[in-house]
Amino acid sequence: MLLALLALAARADDLENGKSIYVARCQSCHGATGRGDGPASAAFTRKPRDFSAKEYWDDMTDDRLRLYIIEGKPGTIMRGFPMADEQLAPLVVYLRSFPTTAAAAPTPAP
Ligand code: HEC
Repeated sequence: MLLALLALAARADDLENGKSIYVARCQSCHGATGRGDGPASAAFTRKPRDFSAKEYWDDMTDDRLRLYIIEGKPGTIMRGFPMADEQLAPLVVYLRSFPTTAAAAPTPAP
């Protein structure tokens, strides 16, 4: 019981930390709900993918995700964001939470 509570508290911490990194460094392009509709992406011909779509996560591994974040995605505007594991881990937890949180958020106007 205590362990379960500790695990929940740790996840809440991760979500909070991950969110603050995301808001500061990713949200302008990837959007507040992860849909790839951040203000900066309006000008891109290639919009970021929709992280709020459950299917996006179907075959995504944490390793691949970490690599994209640290090294960027060649051929796109997505540059690398080198960061320590202590930041990367909560960021990954936060990114993976988008399908759940976006379902509750209102769909932004087109
Ligand atoms: C300057 C705008 C911009 C910023 C800032 C940015 N991205 Fe991206 N990101 C993109 C674009 C454009 C792509 C390429 C399109 C695509 O495949 O999603 C991309 C691709 C990705 C991908 C690979 C998607 C895939 O599966 O192919 C991941 C993961 C990602 N970004 C995460 C992040 C994270 C995490 C941050 C913050 C640390 C971030 N991005 C910051 C624009 C941005």
